[in-house]
This record gives sequence, structure tokens and C-alpha cells, in this order.
Amino acid sequence: MPTSATKQSLRGLTKQTESSWLGLQALRWRSPHLLAGQPCIKAALRTDNSWNPPPRRLTASCILFVLFARRGLRSYRAARKSLGDKRSEAIAEAAEAQAARVSLEAAGLQKAEAAASVRWFLENLRRSSTADWRKVFKNWVQRRGEGEPVQYILGSWPFHPLPTELLVRPPVLIPRPETEELVDRIIKHYGNCHPRRLVDFGSGSGAIVLSLLHAFPMATAVAVDPSEDAVALTRANAARCGVENRLEVRHASSEEWASMSGKAFDLIVSNPPYIPSHEIPGLQVDVREFEDHGALDGGPDGLSVIAEVLCSARRVGLPGARIYLEVHHTHPALFERFSDEAKSEPTKDATQTHATFCKQSSAV
Ligand SMILES: C[S@@+](CC[C@H](N)C(=O)[O-])C[C@H]1O[C@@H](n2cnc3c(N)ncnc32)[C@H](O)[C@@H]1O
Repeated sequence: MPTSATKQSLRGLTKQTESSWLGLQALRWRSPHLLAGQPCIKAALRTDNSWNPPPRRLTASCILFVLFARRGLRSYRAARKSLGDKRSEAIAEAAEAQAARVSLEAAGLQKAEAAASVRWFLENLRRSSTADWRKVFKNWVQRRGEGEPVQYILGSWPFHPLPTELLVRPPVLIPRPETEELVDRIIKHYGNCHPRRLVDFGSGSGAIVLSLLHAFPMATAVAVDPSEDAVALTRANAARCGVENRLEVRHASSEEWASMSGKAFDLIVSNPPYIPSHEIPGLQVDVREFEDHGALDGGPDGLSVIAEVLCSARRVGLPGARIYLEVHHTHPALFERFSDEAKSEPTKDATQTHATFCKQSSAV
């Protein structure tokens, strides 16, 4: 502590200098490491009785030093607090995640499914940095426990040929990885020679047609779907992907629309409902309960809408047009059998299949 002589000599100093001095003394006792490398200040703080009031320049340095030291201490404390906050947030998050996995497994989800759902939820919450994340997370976990697909809960989902995530809304079918594969194949098949006008029968979220418009920047397209929800979602996603000027969206079945349309398309694509009706009750609960059966049920053998699409393709396809379909795993063998029965070349080529289904000579 300062001696009485020291106090005496301080009397003439300004109030600010006094507080700086006291600050320095306090710093010296409490945090001597902060004074390391400051020999002039150390000298000024000698505690022997010969201490004299610091010269003006030294006083100014002291004030500045104290101010900086205080600020340094404050930001050090703030950084330590934020680190502490982050650590406790991470601990809280891990505890919530563990509890969520347990409750999802108890609700009947497989271990891997429960873990994946929790991972997606947390990743999404981190990206959006929602302040009240616990409340949102709990709500999502509860919905997932009731069987709702993660994609519907989150509201958007990546479809890899597109740079933008697609909006997904019940009951419109959630785009699947096998459809990404279909799009990849089409793009690869075309190489540098792009189609000019294409039609997507059963556009759903718009996943296929929007990916193709993205891959073929000079092309225009028509998206056809009899579901109002699907039509609205295709439109919303087209705007999101910035291709709405090159896309016409029609609310109709493929047959209705094709009967009024001319031959103008060099690429026809469709992922129609193709699941045989008897398989619908055996589908996973999140598919069966949440997705539109009109997007899944393809009739007794799963071929009802496929046949309609192929006939529509014949009406609107230009000579030499190509048609690509996603079908049930049992269908390629059926297509070959029909080819045999129709005494056409047995082949998996889509052109032959189409001709067989329509019982007419090849048109597409
Ligand atoms: C399996 S989903 C495919 C959705 C989207 N193309 C995709 O790949 O994610 C089938 C879609 O076909 C539509 N659809 C059903 N019957 C149809 C028909 N007769 N003509 C055209 N589309 C139909 C459904 O509304 C549904 O959106």
C-alpha cells in the first residue's frame, strides 16, 4: 500500500491520475504478469519511501496503460465467459440429443434412423442459429416420433443435381435418391447435345424437371401433374431455382394434357406412381401415412399410370424423341415379357417398351 509520503505527493495530482495509480497498484498485486515487460511502470511502482510523484508523461502512460489493461481484462473475461457458455451449450445439446435418440427408438424408429433424424435436426438448427432451439428441437422430435418424415419437418431437402434445396411439403412425394440417379443418367446420356423442349409427367416437387432445366440452360419445359399440391410446389420450387421463365406448369393428368397438346417434345420424362396396390399397406409408416397415395399407387400391377404416360408420350413426342421412366423393380422383366408377346425384339430399350404398351408401332 502507498506510504503516507507517497499519499502526500499524490495530493496534487488530478483525480484521474490518482485512480490510475491505485489501479496500477491493484494490478501489481492482483495480476503482476500483466506488468511484465513494462520496466518504466514497474519502477514507478516501487514501494520504498523514496517514491516521488510520477512525471506528467509517465502519468499519461500510466492512465493509458490502466485503460488498456482494464479493457484487456474485460475482453479476456468476456472471451472466457463466451467459451464457458459455448461449452455448457454443447453439453446441453449432447444431453438433449441423447434423450431424443432414446425417445425416438422408444417410438419405434430403428437405432440408425433415430440417430440420423437427430443429426439432421441439430445440423439444421445450427445452420439457422435459432435462439430457442430446445423448444423447436423438442417439437421436431415429437413429430418424428409420430412418424412424420424428417424432410417434411424441416421443409426443404437437397436434391443433388440442383444447387438449391427443394421445398418439400406434405403430401407431395419427397424426392428420392433413385430419382437423382435417373436425372444423372439423363444428363450423362445427352452429353453436350442438349434437348430443346421437355415434358415431365407427374412433376411432384419439380425435382426432375427443375434439375433438367438447370442442366440444359437453353431448354424449355412443361410440368404436368393432376395434384393441386404438386402443381403449387413445382411452381414454388421453379421460382426458388430461378427457372420459372422456362417452365409451364399444368394441372392435369398426362392423358388430359397430352390430348390437347401437339407433337413438340424431344425429351419425355416421368417418375409416375408405380407401386402395385397390394404393396401399399406394407410400406413404411412415414411413407404410408404422410405421402400422397396418388403419387405412389400404380394400380394392380403398378403399370396403370405408366401405360397412360407412355401413350401420352407417343402423342407429344417428336420423331426421335427420348423417353426416360423410373419404374418398379419388377417392371423391366414385365416389359420384356410384353415385348415377347408382341413379337417385337426383346429389349429393355424404352422405345420398344413404349410401342408394346400402346400396341402400336414405335412412335417415341
Ligand atoms: C412418384 S411421384 C413423382 C414426383 C416427382 N416427379 C419426383 O420424382 O419426386 C408421382 C407424381 O405423379 C402424379 N400423377 C399421378 N397420376 C398421374 C397421371 N395420371 N398423370 C400425371 N401425373 C400423375 C402424382 O400426383 C405425383 O406427383
